[in-house]
Amino acid sequence: MKPQKLLVTGGAGFIGSNFTRHILASDEGIDITVLDKLTYAGSLDNLKVLEGNPRYRFVRGDICDEKVVKECARGCDCIINFAAETHVDRSIGDPASFIMTDVYGTYVLLEAAREMGIPRFVQISTDEVYGNAVSEPSKEDSPLMPQSPYAASKAGADRLAYSYFVTYGTPVVITRCSNNYGPNQYPEKMIPLFLSNAMDDQPLPVYGTGENTRDWIYVLDHVKALEKVMNTDGLEGEVFNIGSGIELSILQVAAGILDALGKPETLIRMVTDRPGHVQRHAVATEKIRSQLGWAPEVDFTDGLGKTVDWYTDNRDWWEKIKSGEFKDYYRRMYKELHEK
Ligand code: NAD
Ligand code: TYD
Repeated sequence: MKPQKLLVTGGAGFIGSNFTRHILASDEGIDITVLDKLTYAGSLDNLKVLEGNPRYRFVRGDICDEKVVKECARGCDCIINFAAETHVDRSIGDPASFIMTDVYGTYVLLEAAREMGIPRFVQISTDEVYGNAVSEPSKEDSPLMPQSPYAASKAGADRLAYSYFVTYGTPVVITRCSNNYGPNQYPEKMIPLFLSNAMDDQPLPVYGTGENTRDWIYVLDHVKALEKVMNTDGLEGEVFNIGSGIELSILQVAAGILDALGKPETLIRMVTDRPGHVQRHAVATEKIRSQLGWAPEVDFTDGLGKTVDWYTDNRDWWEKIKSGEFKDYYRRMYKELHEK
């Protein structure tokens, strides 16, 4: 049975807002409640186009708060948990909020789902849980070797969700996607940081050698994979990797961004490496391709082009962010850039 009443946690963030907008636009039978704490990373600007839509409701609240979670979950037939602290670099400086939201918050949601008998629970995990994909892309049954407090917190939530399926029969499905990019991504993450810096002729801080690689997926491809997962019966207890198969190094992506904007490569600055920096994230996606018939549709040049267009057309969106809390963060985080 396709769910009709969704609770989307973290829906004011990057992927959650893309998901909410896409689902409401493509499926007229669905109602969505977004529950979001509106941390520094979340913004109602990302959901503005939905204001006044009778099938959309926004609740500001914390997934660690059992009362608000239960209020929001009442009557829902599916919970999709995007809510998380999500930035590896911030998790190195302050792991506590990651453990709290990503692990404890997921526990609160799972408890509500169990007690209230919610028929589907999609846990948005990440390929970060695998750690380094040394010799081959990580498969769903590869060991989990997270290398940052963020990744470890997500691994905890991922396995906690699985344990609820095994122990209580809670109908949990887990997805592990690779690095997303696209509209509305907070500019602390590499692609929007590099894009917005380059647009202002500011340096692009590349960690370490710049040879670390990631699998880069356009956010709408991820959203469409989640739509399939959410609408397919019989997946309880399963894990699905999601990725594009497009593996590029930081330096390759930086060069692509500069090229797309017509900016010089002299903007690239090599800076001190991130502690515990994962050399390679790559995922095997045969399972979701063969079992659910999903495949990514957007190649990197096209996806980057769409992203460049969005950041060009929505300068107000990222300038507002970069002139607020972000300024102090950036000064602290990228001290070297200011010293050189
Ligand atoms: P994001 O940081 O842009 O958004 C996170 C959202 O969660 C924000 O709106 C924030 O306000 C909200 N939030 C944080 N703590 C909360 C709490 N305690 N209660 C309620 N809301 C809270 O993150 P994103 O990039 O959109 O990632 C969404 C999910 O996808 C996360 O679970 C992340 O681990 C996962 N993921 C992200 C990527 C990626 O490349 N960005 C890849 C794979 C998986
Ligand atoms: P990021 O966007 O933080 O995502 P994740 O750590 O979840 O993969 O980083 C993507 C890659 O870019 C990662 O290898 C670290 C690198 N990076 C830089 O080189 N410089 C930066 O300023 C940032 C934010 C990331």
